[in-house]
Amino acid sequence: MTEELEEYIAAHISPEPAVLQRLDHDTHLQLLYPTMCSGHIQGRLLKMLVRMVNPQRVLELGTYSGYSALCLAEGLLSGKAVVHTIEVDDELEDFITSHLSQAPWGHRVHLHIGDAAAVLPTIEGDFDMAFIDANKRDYMAYYDLVMPRVRTGGFIVVDNTLWYERVVDQQRYHDAQTQGIRDFNDRVANDPRVEVAMIPLRDGLTIIYKK
Ligand SMILES: C[S@@+](CC[C@H](N)C(=O)[O-])C[C@H]1O[C@@H](n2cnc3c(N)ncnc32)[C@H](O)[C@@H]1O
Repeated sequence: MTEELEEYIAAHISPEPAVLQRLDHDTHLQLLYPTMCSGHIQGRLLKMLVRMVNPQRVLELGTYSGYSALCLAEGLLSGKAVVHTIEVDDELEDFITSHLSQAPWGHRVHLHIGDAAAVLPTIEGDFDMAFIDANKRDYMAYYDLVMPRVRTGGFIVVDNTLWYERVVDQQRYHDAQTQGIRDFNDRVANDPRVEVAMIPLRDGLTIIYKK
């Protein structure tokens, strides 16, 4: 997407709340790899998807600075609904918790520090919606981990599924991350348990419906 189009979209969607503007700003100032942060456009989409699905329980793999977790939580309609988010990098914990506490709805986010494969089995209950956005190499494993925990009729949203368009350039890209995403996309497309849609936003967002 061109910068001009991105600016146009940003000017014609709901504004980014001040607390998220500050989080995005602090992410760019204080953390490595700030482009991993969902940001205004994708963040408003995540919130809108939560509004549409009206989940009680949302799961996120890959918290990073907490931006997407806060957008997911912001969309929750039910007073008791929560977001469980898992982040493997314990050095991010203080940054995440301090920014969660600045948002009026931050208490709805339950942060778990540790590897998703180890932490998810310790969280009880199923989920109405999941957002997979952790290590691209492990998307197949995350799918196997998350699928049994999402209820029938629930949704799994997966980020970066076009991986900067590298998925279609077989000549140049053979790295583990690109191959991990390709394998994941092929697997989901052939999984009779689900229906799949893909949005070419940023570097691709897949939306999976569990039949
Ligand atoms: C792309 S960032 C997440 C961005 C965030 N969801 C957002 O949209 O603002 C990916 C994060 O996943 C974390 N991660 C990688 N492997 C993980 C694992 N096995 N379990 C939990 N988190 C993991 C990384 O440390 C990193 O912070």
